[in-house]
Amino acid sequence: MRKAWQVWTVVGCLALTSTQLQVSAGESPREARFLDDLLARMTLEEKIGQLVLVSIGPSHPRDQVNSSIAAGRAGMVLNTVVREDIRELQRQAVEHSRLGIPLAFAFDVVHGQRTLFPIGLGLASTWDLPAIALSGRVAAREAAADGLDITFAPMVDIGRDPRWGRMSEGFGEDTWLITRISETLVDAFQGDDLSSPDSMMAVVKHFALYGAGEGGRDYAPAEMGRRQMREVHLPPYRAAIDAGAGGVMVALNSIDGVPATANRWLLDDLLRGEWGFGGLVISDHGAIGELISHGVAADAEQAARLAIQAGVDVDMNSDVYGLHLAGLAERGELDPALIDRAARRVLAAKYALGLFDDPYRRSGPSTEDALAFDDPSRLHRLEAREVARRSLVLLKNQRETLPLDRKARIAVVGPLAKSQADILGSWSGAASPSQAVSLWQGLVDARGGEEGLSYALGANFSDDPLVVDYLTTYTPEVKIDPRPAQVLRDEAVAAAGDADVVVAVVGESRGMSDESSSRSELDLPAAQAALVDALESTGKPLVLILMNGRPLTLERQAGQADALLETWFAGTEGGHAIADVLFGDFEPVGRLPVSFPRRVGQLPLYYALVPTGRPVDPLHPGKFTSRYFDVAGGPLFPFGFGLGYTDFSLSNPRLSSRVLSRDGQLEASVEVINQGKRRGSTVIQLYLHDPVASVTRPVRELKGFKRVTLDPGERARVDFSIDPTMLAFYSGEGPLETIEPGEFEVFIGQHAEDGEPLSFTLRP
Ligand code: NOJ
Repeated sequence: MRKAWQVWTVVGCLALTSTQLQVSAGESPREARFLDDLLARMTLEEKIGQLVLVSIGPSHPRDQVNSSIAAGRAGMVLNTVVREDIRELQRQAVEHSRLGIPLAFAFDVVHGQRTLFPIGLGLASTWDLPAIALSGRVAAREAAADGLDITFAPMVDIGRDPRWGRMSEGFGEDTWLITRISETLVDAFQGDDLSSPDSMMAVVKHFALYGAGEGGRDYAPAEMGRRQMREVHLPPYRAAIDAGAGGVMVALNSIDGVPATANRWLLDDLLRGEWGFGGLVISDHGAIGELISHGVAADAEQAARLAIQAGVDVDMNSDVYGLHLAGLAERGELDPALIDRAARRVLAAKYALGLFDDPYRRSGPSTEDALAFDDPSRLHRLEAREVARRSLVLLKNQRETLPLDRKARIAVVGPLAKSQADILGSWSGAASPSQAVSLWQGLVDARGGEEGLSYALGANFSDDPLVVDYLTTYTPEVKIDPRPAQVLRDEAVAAAGDADVVVAVVGESRGMSDESSSRSELDLPAAQAALVDALESTGKPLVLILMNGRPLTLERQAGQADALLETWFAGTEGGHAIADVLFGDFEPVGRLPVSFPRRVGQLPLYYALVPTGRPVDPLHPGKFTSRYFDVAGGPLFPFGFGLGYTDFSLSNPRLSSRVLSRDGQLEASVEVINQGKRRGSTVIQLYLHDPVASVTRPVRELKGFKRVTLDPGERARVDFSIDPTMLAFYSGEGPLETIEPGEFEVFIGQHAEDGEPLSFTLRP
């Protein structure tokens, strides 16, 4: 085994941003005096009230919430999103509660507020951090103008099992890419100064490993070693905290047998101790009470004690803290200092948000309520269109089917073609579907009218009674056409017969890729697959537009389609953005942030696999190798993949040196040539591999990317700097990263399976 020559201690935050100093790394003397004084005047009940996050709803009607607020029994409010309503609730707190402590208002501003940007997978597909930052900044501005102070975002759970419906919210499978997005979004939400009226506090979620639930089932346990946690899953949360995120939301699942909500190792040792996080820790919805169902608490009282002892400051909507903490403390069964500590963190968050200076900082005075919450002028359509068109990933384009001739007669079919709700994606509660642009509308607008366009539904989302029942129960916008499936298909085939090209919009309704919407298969639902079969049999050029919130298994459809465009759920301006790409007004530039499996049985499937002792050679798979013998190896579309309307070739990869010293740096570069006929861009990706180390290392790991834009025939050399910190990894369960000298491989390519290795030696 090689000897590690340098150990990085990751404990402590050396490079704190100004926001972090305010929020989490200690109080200024003025703030400390203020909080000391306030806490000294609070009763135990009032302190506990600060730990209660309420949401108006059937179990907590508005009147009841108003009186809880006035009585000082609520500190934060969730899911009220109109500034008049927020101002009124705030008035209850400020004018009627004994100490007038302002409330903080929270909401899931995940990929937009009134204007929806693409879902997380779509944002990640841009491989464009400034575009992602723009989405976050606009979201924060709109949400803050609604009176909101806190967003439950970014959601940075690594998604490697697309059976999990919440994969849609996250940014894909790759630790490095998600880590960059995580810090980008925290900065975008919080801005330079958290107390500014257009900044929101970011609550990174779901800490931790919520994406690693067994079998892709939502809320299921995550089981893995600590080394893998640190290596793969924890860096994006850590990056959010280092970027100054004011809060952390705790995951709903258990980790190695201990629910995150009661997990002292996770919340106390790691988050508070090792990472030095001083901000707010918020439970997920009802999670403290769920400790009973997890089987670690006998009753709500025990659940309350476990959660606060682990370090959960705020109880989201379960009444457990409100009902039980006081009794526990009064009977001497809970150290009241824990309540003080949690209350102080809530008050410190409000202080950082500027709410003590002005409780109406974001909701503003009523004289400024000139606009209705959904006034069209509040939308940021240009920004949404710009980001959405960057999120589209072209997966296939044979015989230059795309871009389409703007004058072509087009048959537009499929259950998603005219849907305004689905294109918004999940977590879009404050947006109005009527303001969203469907693909149909996008095509109509691009052509200046409906002439030459025909439409047929073609298929319902699904004909499977289980799926239909699920969708119609939980996503009321899903409407099922009662006509027989064959009649629907025939109508689509007839439309195709009269057209030059078919554009079929297929995939999932947004309710199929959401919370608690795990799927056991990832095929296009059979009704839609049958529609694609019928359309293929017409012989007309077939463009498949995919709308879905997770990778699907599309081997059959990828063979049938002439062009395949992954659009995820592209947001308010989705229809315009897709039309821009279909007609060639905008080059498709998106790249997959996640691998597409061929079959569900391959899951989990991701590119950064660690090798086995019996690796498979794809050309000679043989026996006694690590593979499924009944399916071709590897993904259908690899991580990082995406086409444009021109072709790039890469040649002459070079390293500036074959040797890297411990304080040195080397350049890896490749020549990129646009060999096609149009100007276009591609994403050049840098992957590294450590072939011999003290622990087995992934076959490749993304460590950088650059977008290059070239005219036809133009060439450019794209280079990346490599330094030893990029070679660090966790070799044990502890917090120390190590860098081991020896040989390393470098791959530069256009996706995770591209490029031949170059090697260099890291000197001891
Ligand atoms: C439950 C979800 O898991 C979480 O992501 C969300 O922030 C809360 N509900 C509040 O809506």
